[in-house]
Amino acid sequence: MTNTAWDTYPKQKPERRQVNAAGETTWFNWTQYPDHGPGAELLGVGPGASVLDLGCGKGGNLAHVAALGARAVGIDVSIAQLKAAEARWANVGLVLHRADAVRFLEETGEHFDAIYSVFGAAWFTDPEQLLPFIRKRLKSGGVFAFSQRPPIKGCYGCQASYINRSEDEDPLVVKRWDYQPDRWEDILREHGFTAITTRELPAPPRRRKVGTLIVRAA
Ligand SMILES: C[S@@+](CC[C@H](N)C(=O)[O-])C[C@H]1O[C@@H](n2cnc3c(N)ncnc32)[C@H](O)[C@@H]1O
Repeated sequence: MTNTAWDTYPKQKPERRQVNAAGETTWFNWTQYPDHGPGAELLGVGPGASVLDLGCGKGGNLAHVAALGARAVGIDVSIAQLKAAEARWANVGLVLHRADAVRFLEETGEHFDAIYSVFGAAWFTDPEQLLPFIRKRLKSGGVFAFSQRPPIKGCYGCQASYINRSEDEDPLVVKRWDYQPDRWEDILREHGFTAITTRELPAPPRRRKVGTLIVRAA
């Protein structure tokens, strides 16, 4: 596996704070805004659970999963992201793999109580490829949840997403998959998921206007 466009991405993103507004050192954030939206309760996991983050990036959410006492497994295609996760969360006990999401799910023998993705691999992978393997690797009653930006009206299915580089370089391009909430419900149902809920969470007051789509299924 060669370096990917995603090795460029962490350079643009501010570091996660040392504590959140509530003074906590680990926390779960489904949205693109600090101190906003639901937390890890959406996953319904506790001590001893096995949880997988698809596209864990620098591992901030995964560190919170580990702090809850779960086995916290994170996969990402980017070495740069994984190195940042290892450095920041060295004492938390994350299990990290450099892998593509579909390939990992295809090859692992492990089954999970929850699989989630926060603006992660579930957004940047064709659901027709990904969902059969998520279904296969979830334990009975396990939860699959993901968040991403809601679709732009009229722009559905596979879309091009830019990852900016320096001023002198063209941006890199990755693919993402955008659907309306009711289309996600159909797609998930077609792949055997039940108890599907979709929610478009508005941006916090006085922040930018783009909200967050949060999807949960079992
Ligand atoms: C926008 S970042 C979000 C990172 C992290 N979830 C967060 O909330 O900060 C997207 C992440 O997904 C990873 N990613 C994208 N496509 C992937 C794939 N097919 N398999 C594994 N990881 C992937 C990228 O390397 C990147 O770390």
